[in-house]
Amino acid sequence: MSRTAALHAISTEIPSRPARAAHAGPATIAEISSGLLAERAATSPKYLYDSLGSKLFEAICELPEYYPTRTEASIFEQYGGEIAQAVGTGSTLIDLGAGNCAKAASLFPLLHPAQYVPVDISRDFLTEAVHGLQQRFPHIEMTALGLDFSRSFHLPASVRPARRVFFYPGSSIGNFAPHEAISFLRRMRANEQGDGGLLIGVDLIKDGAVLDAAYDDAIGVTAAFNLNMLRHLNHLIGADFDVTQWRHRAFFNAEESRVEMHLEAREALVVGWQGYERHFGRGERIHTEDSYKYTRRGFIDLLQEAGFAATRTWTDDAEWFAVIHAKAIGD
Ligand code: AVI
Repeated sequence: MSRTAALHAISTEIPSRPARAAHAGPATIAEISSGLLAERAATSPKYLYDSLGSKLFEAICELPEYYPTRTEASIFEQYGGEIAQAVGTGSTLIDLGAGNCAKAASLFPLLHPAQYVPVDISRDFLTEAVHGLQQRFPHIEMTALGLDFSRSFHLPASVRPARRVFFYPGSSIGNFAPHEAISFLRRMRANEQGDGGLLIGVDLIKDGAVLDAAYDDAIGVTAAFNLNMLRHLNHLIGADFDVTQWRHRAFFNAEESRVEMHLEAREALVVGWQGYERHFGRGERIHTEDSYKYTRRGFIDLLQEAGFAATRTWTDDAEWFAVIHAKAIGD
């Protein structure tokens, strides 16, 4: 059954279930419902990030198995001077998915941005981070934006138009399917005047065992991060997910060049929300995240399709991760 057909098919109130309050608006409830009712249930990875989810992601970044954060940081450390030369100083640095703002902050002494614009869906987390940062760097104008940039890319007038440099580290671009990544980069391209650029972190294809371990760590932090999405969904749509009925699954799908994260039902169960219900058989899954991995060439080609030309690429010695600077291709 298609998602829309499923949505129409199950529309009656379920009397046996007590109604739980939803905290999301109708558009979000419709989007999540459509994903949960699809034949292969799926949710957007953005729902991994409530305030606890953001903290769990911070913890993931400290795990020995999760190499992207420290590998990218080592590239920034080793090639900071060259990166600053490519990007230039005095820019409007727009940090997409800023989280705790630590990555951008580590580059402030090199990039000397005129304005820093951290953008993140998790508004409370962001506000707290920027408050501390503004005290450390009082001379940099800071404009925090709590918005879902995967939905809308409208930058307010308070964001300076000149020399906009989009900073998109951490290989977050990998959480979009390649065709979505291209449209997302095109929207970025449309929001800059041609005098700025893009500084982006990209995770490269590597041994499957390294990737499997990075997304299924020994002490279960990534499992908690994934399972926490169910608590977040309970809050957003008033669902009655019982977290103990689910387990974390993550593996590298070499054919699709992506690590997939799923939540798998430990037993047959039923989940209800807002008059909908969904039966899950034992072992049935909800697909919660993809993390695409690229070759250097493959990603540079993707940038080109989106209207950007790579000017420089830096990698670590093992070529596990790449940081790429790109400029908009003239119209
Ligand atoms: C945010 N993003 C780049 C992370 C990734 O590696 O795809 C999210 C993550 N999921 C599991 N571990 C980390």
